[in-house]
Amino acid sequence: MTFGSQQPKIETITGPAATRSGLTNTMLFQSLQIRNVAIGPAHILAPMAGITDTVFRRFIKRLGGCGLIMTEFVSSEGMIRQNFRSHRYLYYTEEERPITAQIFGADPAHLADAARQIEDLGFDLVDLNLGCPAKKVVKCGGSGLLRDLPLLERILRAIRTSVKIPFTIKFRSGWSDEEIVAVQVARMAEDCGVEALAVHPRTRLQGYSGRANWEIIRQVKQAVRIPVIGNGDVLTPPDAAALQAQTGCDAVMIGRAAASNPWIFRQLAEFFQTGSYREPEDADRYDLIRTYYSMLVAEEVPGAIGKMKQFASWFTHGVRNGTDLRRQVQSAREAGEVLERVDAFFASLAAPQEAAIAF
Ligand SMILES: Cc1cc2nc3c(=O)[nH]c(=O)nc-3n(C[C@H](O)[C@H](O)[C@H](O)COP(=O)(O)O)c2cc1C
Repeated sequence: MTFGSQQPKIETITGPAATRSGLTNTMLFQSLQIRNVAIGPAHILAPMAGITDTVFRRFIKRLGGCGLIMTEFVSSEGMIRQNFRSHRYLYYTEEERPITAQIFGADPAHLADAARQIEDLGFDLVDLNLGCPAKKVVKCGGSGLLRDLPLLERILRAIRTSVKIPFTIKFRSGWSDEEIVAVQVARMAEDCGVEALAVHPRTRLQGYSGRANWEIIRQVKQAVRIPVIGNGDVLTPPDAAALQAQTGCDAVMIGRAAASNPWIFRQLAEFFQTGSYREPEDADRYDLIRTYYSMLVAEEVPGAIGKMKQFASWFTHGVRNGTDLRRQVQSAREAGEVLERVDAFFASLAAPQEAAIAF
């Protein structure tokens, strides 16, 4: 299928921003080493519950430019009870390496046990979630632990002594604006043997509102020697350059932008090598949607149709007549029907161009 006359859109950055990010001299975020785990490039897919399952992670990996991926967060209590769902979240393939499994919980012994299971399952790293703002999670871990640092310290030490693989944490800046603890948590974590820190500088009370306060990432970076991964509101390659310039962070982690623009990691790599990056065309979007949907069908993912509908609204931004496609996907009743509608939709986009060329 061809999409005719659309020219690839090239975004270029020159002048002060390019110089500020060091583009003219060195490539940003080229690599990151967390003990024995080599991450290159230092672009990380953020864990996102309901999104970053094994299919999505492989899909992102195949598009290129992503150096590390993480599972969705998994309950340590669920793992200990041998809960089926927790174990399903921990399924991964060799293609996904290096891969981190993220756990959450509030009981030091149970978390240590869960971390051991992660190691036994062959994951490259284990990460502790200290960011989830959901009510049912903060009662038993997530960002709730940012309000109980003595308990957090016991947890960090328990996990550290239970595994040999690198141990990392991902945390918010604090519970509220009055309780910012990021630097304290970072220093304590380093002292407990944590080997890298990912900082999403919003408070728990903020949820996902307002802006991520990158100044907190800068403060954390100044406070510790272990690698610091910056996260929050990076939507484009120039955002990532700005994040590095403002904070000095060692790697960039991207969440929501990757769900609507899975090419973001490849764009980062291209941008840091050349100073510009290519925006996807209709043909790329077609390939993207078809590939991801076909993977969901082939893998017999439970609830594939729900995922297709969820992703339709993200993947189709920028597609001509995208509203039409979204409507068609939403009203489909089964996965095969979704694929047929996607094919027909993109064929109709391509048709006038082919006719014009023939004419
Ligand atoms: C739908 C959704 C699910 C998320 N699930 C997790 C999770 O399981 N573990 C975690 O540490 N963070 C989770 N996050 C937070 C992201 O990893 C990331 O820190 C946050 O979205 C900020 O980064 P961004 O601005 O690049 O999206 C989630 C975010 C979203 C939007």
